[in-house]
Amino acid sequence: MRSVAVGLSIGLFCAMLPIPLQMLIAAVCCFIGRGNIPIAIAACWVSNPFTQILLMLFQERVGAKIRGILDLGWLDFIDIDGTVPFIKEDLNLANFAVGVGATAFFLGIIAYPIIFCFYTIVPKKYLQGVAILKRKIPVISLTTTPMKKIPTEVFEDKQAAVNKLAAETAELIRSNDAVAKITVLGLATGSSPIDYYKSLIHLHNTDGLSFQNVITFNLDEYAGLDREHPESYWHFMHQNLFNHIDIKPENINLPSGMIGEAEIPSHCAQYEQDIKDAGGIDLQILGIGRTGHIGFNEPGSPKDSLTRAIELNPITREDAAPSFGGIDKVPTTAITMGCGTILAAKRIVLMAWGTGKAPIVNEAVTGPVNDIVSASYLQDHPNASFYIDKQAAGDLE
Ligand code: F6R
Repeated sequence: MRSVAVGLSIGLFCAMLPIPLQMLIAAVCCFIGRGNIPIAIAACWVSNPFTQILLMLFQERVGAKIRGILDLGWLDFIDIDGTVPFIKEDLNLANFAVGVGATAFFLGIIAYPIIFCFYTIVPKKYLQGVAILKRKIPVISLTTTPMKKIPTEVFEDKQAAVNKLAAETAELIRSNDAVAKITVLGLATGSSPIDYYKSLIHLHNTDGLSFQNVITFNLDEYAGLDREHPESYWHFMHQNLFNHIDIKPENINLPSGMIGEAEIPSHCAQYEQDIKDAGGIDLQILGIGRTGHIGFNEPGSPKDSLTRAIELNPITREDAAPSFGGIDKVPTTAITMGCGTILAAKRIVLMAWGTGKAPIVNEAVTGPVNDIVSASYLQDHPNASFYIDKQAAGDLE
């Protein structure tokens, strides 16, 4: 019924306009109205000539007074100049019907193809746009909810989050073990993953989780620190994880901080190759720096960057200063996996705890994807998640 009503109204309205405009309006209205189109058009057809007839009879009665309206009408081919000779002298119902019929026919062969084209050729995207316009507009609320562009799980506390991540890791390792497949883990250092490593050690000790078939690649290493330096990431990883599990030493990979400048490009290229040779990273663990870095991909790092040397941002060095015993002792450069290297991982989980991380977590999860916050690139990853505690989620609410 709605379609018929739409068709009738369009027809009635269009009857007073020039033909091209009638076509356009009928097509656009039917397209936007999108009810039962054939019925709407049929109704349009019926009402249009009918209205013309009424208008002409009406014109005959009131003559030139309404000439202005009819001059725009679709029966302009009938000369209605001045005295309206056709109507006055030869008004003949048969001719009249031919005129109306011909016009209706003309309307039909043009209007149908136009509307057909709208429904078949107009790109789906545009149709969706129209569908969106048609949606009822909700009452606008003054408080806005941020759009989370990365799946983000907010946990009651850090322990609940790391337990879940450790269980997910164990499941991955065990399912790969079951089909004799190596598991490749990408690992991070810093304070964020420490409790996660404790959970993995716990699963190893109490639940028999084995790392015999695991290969690890760490994200980064400070330049200029040898392996035994207490602040080297090599040292950190052995202290916090590797010394407590059954991983094979030859399966542990970290970039070297002691590579001569000339050898850095080939060292980095080899690191990339080693990741590929291992079959790519199955699960990449990340933290996030206050600059928004993942690994040491400081602001300005391109999305497709690979393992390379990078200058550390002053904020990053400031954050590392307490453990080094002063900012002057913090290295100025590091070797890091690139954003492209990280994004190539099959699954990525970024952990963040505490109010200090809330602003940057919000930027990464809800802000635009850009090279200022390299963690925002994770928005474009098909299987990346943030596991954060309530405090780190503070700015999301
Ligand atoms: C560490 C790393 C960094 C840290 C980040 C957060 O290997 O790549 O991106 O994850 O600086 O550090 P924490 O966890 O100490 O806040």
